[in-house]
Amino acid sequence: MQNGYEVFKNQLFQVLGIDLNSYKEQQMRRRINQWLTRHSMASYTDLIARIRTDLDHRAAFTKYLTINTSQFFRDQGVFESIARQVLPSITSGGNMPRIWSAGCSIGAEIYSIAMLLIKQGARARELLGTDIDEVILARAREGTYSDSEVGGVPPDLLRAHFVKSGNLYQISDTLRRMVKFARHDLLQDPYPKPFDLVLCRNVFIYFTADTQKRLIHSFVDSLKPGGFFVVGSAEHIMDPHAFGLERVSYCIYAKTV
Ligand SMILES: C[S@@+](CC[C@H](N)C(=O)[O-])C[C@H]1O[C@@H](n2cnc3c(N)ncnc32)[C@H](O)[C@@H]1O
Repeated sequence: MQNGYEVFKNQLFQVLGIDLNSYKEQQMRRRINQWLTRHSMASYTDLIARIRTDLDHRAAFTKYLTINTSQFFRDQGVFESIARQVLPSITSGGNMPRIWSAGCSIGAEIYSIAMLLIKQGARARELLGTDIDEVILARAREGTYSDSEVGGVPPDLLRAHFVKSGNLYQISDTLRRMVKFARHDLLQDPYPKPFDLVLCRNVFIYFTADTQKRLIHSFVDSLKPGGFFVVGSAEHIMDPHAFGLERVSYCIYAKTV
């Protein structure tokens, strides 16, 4: 006999295509219960009924569940290392790199990389941002941001790549044209390849340890030999060699084979 949460997970997968089995259970249950309280719903059954019929509620719940928080140049030190070490390496000899931001949310991470490439006079063959959440991808494509989201953009890059309109900042068409956004579920879809640089930051903290391992193997498989893999500041890889990686800097690994 399945308990309520087991049934809910199956139904949620049918309606949203999100597989909660791979996410840390305690954290997810707590978040979902908070949502039920906030929206005065008595049970998982009420929530499933609501997201089947109310598309706005479905979008809002997806956004809540997937935790879309992001900013430009988040973890400044990591971007300094990317600018100093990673980009010069993958663009040397005129190489035009392929770069993937997985779990890209509002696109801030991949647009930050695009700005650094322009600053260094380099060009990319492909800049890809992917996420499971279609609503957040629409925001990434539109490229309109709040004060706090652009707070980490250095002043010269803010002037060069954004137009301020009221309280919002619109990213330039040049940058929007450089980046492609697509829906991709890290748990179910085949991983695109080959890439010179893959960033997956502040995404797999939500997954179970087994799922994290499976994902890291898939990311390594998506990298060219010598390619770089960047994780979030709470996501250190304890035994990089077990995945064919070596640590090159804080949060940054290189594929050794
Ligand atoms: C906290 S944001 C991180 C954004 C950005 N990488 C950063 O560090 O600022 C996590 C993102 O992971 C996405 N996500 C969650 N589960 C996912 C999955 N199974 N496949 C792809 N993206 C997923 C969420 O929709 C959300 O946009």
